[in-house]
Amino acid sequence: MKGVILAGGLGSRLRPLTSVTNKHLLPVYDKPMIYYPIQCLVNAGITDILIVTGGEHAGDFLKLLKNGKELGVRHLAFAYQEGEGGIADALKLAEDFADGGKICVILGDNIIEKNLRQAAGEFFTQTAGAKILLKEVTDPERFGVAEVIDGKINQIIEKPEQPVSNLAVTGIYFYDNDVFEFCNTLQPSDRGELEITDVNNFYLKRGDLTYDVLEGWWTDAGTFESLHHASNLVAQGGANQLD
Ligand code: DAU
Repeated sequence: MKGVILAGGLGSRLRPLTSVTNKHLLPVYDKPMIYYPIQCLVNAGITDILIVTGGEHAGDFLKLLKNGKELGVRHLAFAYQEGEGGIADALKLAEDFADGGKICVILGDNIIEKNLRQAAGEFFTQTAGAKILLKEVTDPERFGVAEVIDGKINQIIEKPEQPVSNLAVTGIYFYDNDVFEFCNTLQPSDRGELEITDVNNFYLKRGDLTYDVLEGWWTDAGTFESLHHASNLVAQGGANQLD
């Protein structure tokens, strides 16, 4: 299975830091943010990786990562997203790279304490469909939120004003190749983006969306508060632990 890291967008919530660099190159404790999703994929045995990025500082990824070998990447590819059309818009650029196969997608600002080995193993044996990872949070209104009834996802709502649960949809997704067909049918949401939640709801409607609840901590790092929180979590115990 190949891996895709979505590191586009303009990082406007982190201005002025992102006026001079890409959000995913900012430090999270002692490493650039992009190192964490890369390490996460490598730890799950996924070493053929595409980074989708954009903006004025895209070239700096190459300067930092080179061919990715120092981080254990076997093959590192890049794609350039024009503008900020949303997560599913960035994902569309991975179609040729996926080459008909399954993919694991991670948002470039997501960091986890543990690893994806179990989830990746489960998805490997899942014949078709998608798998998402959920995590209990105290501020679900910031995320996609899943309602789970009798062990099954009933609905997923993007940034609900009145969350139906405390289960956030993390930015870690496993998809079969139909994901590109779904992405191509999407219409922009009210915030003008192609939403990954709409993609997940396609799979939910089709009946082959599975989920796990992530063990260990999970955080994003796309706001000043969460960036600070992420640095503290990493400083306290490290991310991407193998067991
Ligand atoms: O972190 C998990 C959450 O990420 C999910 O719970 C939400 O369902 C999902 O919509 C997303 O929410 P955010 O509003 O936090 O996403 P954000 O716009 O901050 O983008 C997250 C990452 O996605 C960003 O670090 C890079 C990538 N991205 C985003 C956009 C808008 C792109 O590659 N291209 C884009 O155009």
